[in-house]
Order: sequence, then C-alpha cells, then structure tokens
Amino acid sequence: MSSNTASNMPTKKNCRVTKIDALTDNISSFEIEVLDEGFDKPSFDNLEPGAHLDVYLDDGIIRQYSLWDWSDDKTKVSVAVKREDQGNGGSLKMHQLKVGDLIVIDGPRNHFKLTPNAPHYTLIAGGIGVTPIFAMASELASQNAKVDVYYLVQKEELAAFASRFENLGFNQHDESSYQLHCDDQNGMFDFDSLIKKLPSDSVIYTCGPEPMLNKIIEVVDNNPNDKNEKHELHFERFTIATEEAEKENSSFEVKINSTGEIYTVNEDETILTVLSDNGVDVPSACAAGLCGTCITDVLEGDIDHRDGILSDDEKASNEYMCVCISRAKSAQITLDL
Ligand code: FES
Repeated sequence: MSSNTASNMPTKKNCRVTKIDALTDNISSFEIEVLDEGFDKPSFDNLEPGAHLDVYLDDGIIRQYSLWDWSDDKTKVSVAVKREDQGNGGSLKMHQLKVGDLIVIDGPRNHFKLTPNAPHYTLIAGGIGVTPIFAMASELASQNAKVDVYYLVQKEELAAFASRFENLGFNQHDESSYQLHCDDQNGMFDFDSLIKKLPSDSVIYTCGPEPMLNKIIEVVDNNPNDKNEKHELHFERFTIATEEAEKENSSFEVKINSTGEIYTVNEDETILTVLSDNGVDVPSACAAGLCGTCITDVLEGDIDHRDGILSDDEKASNEYMCVCISRAKSAQITLDL
C-alpha cells in the first residue's frame, strides 16, 4: 500500500458515456470512454478486478463504482449501478446520464485486489456487490483457476449478471462451480454450511450489503479450517461498519512532518477538514472512508481506524490512514505530509 505519494495522487480524466444498457428494471451498465484530448495518453491504468472509479457527478456528488469490465485497449471501462430511489442522489444522477454525456472520472484505484495463484477461490456476491466479484470471476476463469461462485439475490429478476456468470463456464469444470441463490425461492443462504465445507486453502472474496458481510465475517471467525486457522477473507463494503460509525469522537492533535505545524482536531472535525482549513491539501473524494483517495502515511501516533476499505492487516500495521474519517487514539499523530 502506498499513500498520498503515488497510487492515490489525482488521476482525473475527462470521459464520455458511450453506452448504457439496462440490465434489470433498476440496474444499468455504463460504458465510459476516456477522451483523447491530444496531450495525455487516452487510456485507463490499474485495470484489474476489484478496482473502482470515483465518478464526479453534478452538485459536487462523487460516487465510487467498481469496474466489471474494460476494453483490451484500456480506453473504455464499464460499471453497473443500481438506482436507489430512496438513496442520497448519486445513483439517481448516474441513471440520468445519457449516451454522449461528459463526466469526470478519477482512478481506478484498487483496495480489493485478488490474491494471485490461490489454490482455490470462493467468490460471494450479494446484490449489486456483484460488480467487483464478476470482474474477479472473469479473470479467474481466464486463468482456469479453481473457483466456486455464489451469486445471492432476493429474486431472480434482480440477478443482473446471471447469464454472464453462466457464460464463464464454471459449471463445465469438475473443480469449479457457479450457483445463483434467490432468497424468495431458496430461503436465506446458509453461510455456516458453506464455510464449514470450504477447502482449507480457499481464499474468500465477498462484496454486498453490510448484514451479509457481517454474517460472513462472523461465520468465518467461528469456523476455522482443518488446520485450525481462519480462512483468508477479503471483502469490500458499500458503507462503513455500524460499530465504526457509532464510535465516540475525542479531540487530538495532528502534526505535519514537513513543517512541524500542529493543529487540533476537535470532536466534531476530521483531520481532512482541519488540514483543508489550514491550507494543507490532501486529495479526497468520498470523505466517507470508502474510496482510499485520502490515504496518508503516518509516522508517529496510534491510529483509530474508522474506514471501510483498509484490510485488518493494513490497519494493524499502523502505517497509514484515511484522514477523511479515521482519527487518533494517541494525543498526537504525525502525518508524512
Ligand atoms: S476520501 Fe475516500 S477514503 Fe477518504
């Protein structure tokens, strides 16, 4: 993981919407092409499963959407967005886009990378969390990896990627499988049974609604493999965990290493807002601990991680933090800025 030095530096691109496909009543796929403006390489970098884009929409709205596909020449990427009629506007703005509209994109960035060469993969997609999982399945199918895919939806008509998964051909191989699970036909998915029967070396990737992720985390914690170790589990959230959102804030100091300046971050402030108010620029996008744009190296102090993207190992390293949402446990924290 690098911080605000390389991978998180702004990579904004002017783009155009080139194709919109309705996948279900409320899920559409958007193909986005980077514009050839004559002075920059008209292509996307970091095109890999698990990567997401920051999409800049009207009214200052920035949203993160995972890639599910991209063109071989790296000029076009595809995201799928579920329209949330009761949401806070991002998905509605996306669904108002038309072919030919111009939009600004930052990224892709990837905080949900596939472990290469695992002996076995278990992919669990819940609802619109399918997009990064489909990209992973597609990549692993091309590698002939051993993969079991579980696509969980409330009802079949919401399974926007079902035919695409079927076309990957996992069920034509003895050592891989694909299963569509519809709650209304099959009842609630039995995660206990699934995790208990996993090969001990299976690496689990999952993305979906928070209750599903919390259940999987709990079941994995309680069901070690036959070596009495926890299965390797990677997940991506749409929102930060409830327990993080409910934590109480206390004030602390943030020190800028290059200048020695020290600022107080009060209970109702974030490091990002305090830095911004004092003219210290840190790139940011979601301001909610979900995109990774603001990750910054920490030189001293204990981090109180509140984000939804760093892994447990990354958090335990105490080396970097999302300054838009995470705080300090110690009285002072020193940033490598
Ligand atoms: S700005 Fe998105 S994680 Fe901080």
